Amino acid sequence: MVDIAVTRAATPKALPEADKLGFGQYFTDHMFEMGYQTGKGWHNPRIVPYDEFSLYPAAMVLHYGQAIFEGMKAFRTDAGEITVFRPLDYLNRFNRSADILCIPNTDVDVVHAGLNKLLEIDKRWVPDKVGTALYIRPFIFATDPYVGVKSSDAYKLFIILSPVGAYYAAGFNPVGIKVEDKYVRAVPGGIGEAKTPGNYAASLRAQVEAKKEGYAQVLWLDGIERKYVEEVGTMNIFFKIKGELVTPALNGSILGGITRRTVLELAKDWGVKATERQISIDEVFEAHAKGELEEVFGSGTAAVISPVGELSWKGQKLVINGNKTGPFSQKLFDYVTGLQYGKVADKFGWVE
Ligand code: COI
Repeated sequence: MVDIAVTRAATPKALPEADKLGFGQYFTDHMFEMGYQTGKGWHNPRIVPYDEFSLYPAAMVLHYGQAIFEGMKAFRTDAGEITVFRPLDYLNRFNRSADILCIPNTDVDVVHAGLNKLLEIDKRWVPDKVGTALYIRPFIFATDPYVGVKSSDAYKLFIILSPVGAYYAAGFNPVGIKVEDKYVRAVPGGIGEAKTPGNYAASLRAQVEAKKEGYAQVLWLDGIERKYVEEVGTMNIFFKIKGELVTPALNGSILGGITRRTVLELAKDWGVKATERQISIDEVFEAHAKGELEEVFGSGTAAVISPVGELSWKGQKLVINGNKTGPFSQKLFDYVTGLQYGKVADKFGWVE
């Protein structure tokens, strides 16, 4: 048993309206918190009211970005029960990101127990409308007040919760994507495979320019040859070519998505050939020219499956599946959300 002290919020907030949630703008009444100090380790796991906190202006995270985060979701089933999708997989990935950013690992059992207690206390915040969820955001950052560059000796971990609707305004509809050939997100040997703020900061400039040009997101190419496909927006990417599912292999610069893993495991279970390998943007365009490119979609926690309707690259535009959601994307979306909302029996042990 993990001992977690609880301080309740004095005045619980009013719940936001279910159809106005958007993504990540409302936060629940409480948060989980834990501290780390070299010599003492992770200590004092507790639940406190959701509120501002203080930090020294010299706190290392503000200067050198030593921080990591996770993103997972809790759902309310028709029966009113609360489920969480693959929480241990996300918490293990949190430690993988910690290794990359030289942040001390957490005890997954303690963070898991803290999350479960937080969900129990704030369960009235789990929305029940179709397509809504409670987004779970664990994060760790360096707090040493020191402006020399080193790995910090002190950290804070928080878990905050946010009731959310669809991540993209388009909802589950195909989006137009610009193949990015000017900016890169990450390189092998860098920190691209960690869920760390710097990767998202590195993506903003391309995203802003793509938006101005009328695209929803960018398709990231590899940082060295600008030839091989890596990710799409903040998601992993899949191509369905002549019946086979292809996704870029994890090469050190690509985040190993939990939804990506879910898609690969489902494809295997359904007898659909799925391959993790290098895939060049030329190959994607060639497959389209031969009429073999059946579907393209992104996978992520926030949007689950996000169909790509158009791909633009150096003045050429591909329209995929008539800019309509393909049957395989639809099947995946229905199955994964079915598991999450308790409508599909969980034979994989993914739902907690
Ligand atoms: C995802 O779940 O697709 C993301 O990575 C988005 C998140 C950073 C809001």
